[in-house]
Amino acid sequence: MATRVQWLGHSCLLIETDGKRVLIDPFLTGNPMAGARPEEIEADVILVSHGHEDHLGDTLAIAQRTGASVVANYELSQWFQEQGLTKLHGINLGGGVQVVPEFHVQMTLAFHSSSLPGGGYGGNPGGFLITCADGSRIYDAADTALFSDMKLIGEGGLDLAILPIGDYFTMGPNDAILAIKLIGPRHVMPIHYDTFPPIKQDVQVWAERVKEETAALPLVPKPGEWSVVR
Ligand code: NI
Ligand code: MN
Repeated sequence: MATRVQWLGHSCLLIETDGKRVLIDPFLTGNPMAGARPEEIEADVILVSHGHEDHLGDTLAIAQRTGASVVANYELSQWFQEQGLTKLHGINLGGGVQVVPEFHVQMTLAFHSSSLPGGGYGGNPGGFLITCADGSRIYDAADTALFSDMKLIGEGGLDLAILPIGDYFTMGPNDAILAIKLIGPRHVMPIHYDTFPPIKQDVQVWAERVKEETAALPLVPKPGEWSVVR
């Protein structure tokens, strides 16, 4: 069994273990970096970190077509229920759920904001700690500022940390380096950069810094490319 991750542009990721797939923050329609079309995606589980449209994205359409279970914060899950979804886990910060035998998902802290489409209260934004059946542990920080408790999330070891580097809406390249030092993952993958002009970054320069300044190995896929993490 191996676990691999496909970056689909911005914060959209697909994690595959033993033929089962978790899709995270499926913003594909309207995403200039999208590595796939929403109708091509197969998923068993969808995780949504917060209500902003560059994360919520195509969740409704993909969940309706695939029958995937959706994991999100409680308020967002209530909104999904109002839109007609039924396979929902409305969890909250610190809580976790064994969504399918292959994936346990825990919602971690994130320092950001969250609102529903239309502007309603979107609950707390979160990140995700995903434990796969083969023992792989993956932390997706999602949209967040740097915070020192990231160190706790790294305890127990991580095969991959997925971190925003775009700046402006989230932490930028410097804080992402500090985050890696706190978390101590084996691999790190940058997200939430280059999609829009305010979050343009030189990812290759950042990846060189990761190699020089941290013990982690950077994974910098093109949109649509798969990376093996374990
Ligand atoms: Ni956001
Ligand atoms: Mn965002």
